[in-house]
Amino acid sequence: MAGVPVFGLIPKVPRRQTCPEEYVLQDPRSHFNQALMRAYAAFRLPRGAGTKVIMITSAAAGEGKTAFCVSFARSLALIGQRALVIDADFHRPRIAAAFAGRDTPHISDVVQGRVSLAAAVQVDARSGAHFLPAVPERSDPQLLLQSDSFGAMMRGVRETYGIVIIDTPPVMAAADAAAVSAFADATLFLVQWGDTPRSIVATALRFLHLCGTVIDGIILSQVDLRRQEQYDQAYDHKAAHWPSVSLPGAALESTSRTASGYADAEKASADSPER
Ligand SMILES: Nc1ncnc2c1ncn2[C@@H]1O[C@H](COP(=O)(O)OP(=O)(O)OP(=O)(O)O)[C@@H](O)[C@H]1O
Ligand SMILES: [Mg+2]
Repeated sequence: MAGVPVFGLIPKVPRRQTCPEEYVLQDPRSHFNQALMRAYAAFRLPRGAGTKVIMITSAAAGEGKTAFCVSFARSLALIGQRALVIDADFHRPRIAAAFAGRDTPHISDVVQGRVSLAAAVQVDARSGAHFLPAVPERSDPQLLLQSDSFGAMMRGVRETYGIVIIDTPPVMAAADAAAVSAFADATLFLVQWGDTPRSIVATALRFLHLCGTVIDGIILSQVDLRRQEQYDQAYDHKAAHWPSVSLPGAALESTSRTASGYADAEKASADSPER
């Protein structure tokens, strides 16, 4: 992964405050909002306004993908961008809940022709961001994601929106992110700072590489800015490129998260005193 740029260090919102998707609405000048804007500039400016569709994935569950997608869309909508979040996580869809919306009609209704895109998209009254929810898919989500009608829907959203953010399941749980990335202008790989083991990140990246998915940039999520600064000072690192970004090795190795999937990740979340 040497040379893959780090597009953003997204700070950890203190638990006593609120969840990230609420926090983003509170203070447009917070470190959190500024980090989201820097991430936006980092992937958009060099590629130009044609960079509309971005996909977010990660190696493991619970790293912060959905929180990032919703916060990112809200912060962009608040500065006047026409932003849409698409929930393409058919294993653990959470976009509707994160926006406090309904989960029907949903993306499968659109792709299977039961409702129009316009009828399925909801508007977040608090930011102006739009979102398309999902529900757990009984059949193989790959069938839906590789269908002609999914492609047609994606062409439709490109016409309508200034930025489209797609939330996907973790790579260790499903191959769906690789299928979705075919429709994205930029694929961002999120890593929970100080938590996700390097071995799991490496396995997920190898899998995406085998599928032909190019990772455009890394987003480090839930960064403890004070600790990050200490690492930078101790190792004289400049957090510019993976792996030179100062991921704390000890913390990475000591995590209880494993590659075995959602159940372990959930246990890790519940056990962790920081979360
Ligand atoms: N920047 C942040 N600061 C504090 N908490 C965060 C941050 N980002 C995410 N979280 C918290 O981490 C938990 C997991 O986040 P989220 O649901 O976004 O992960 P996910 O990667 O989408 O998980 P899954 O793979 O299960 O879909 C949530 O409780 C969320 O509020
Ligand atoms: Mg999620």
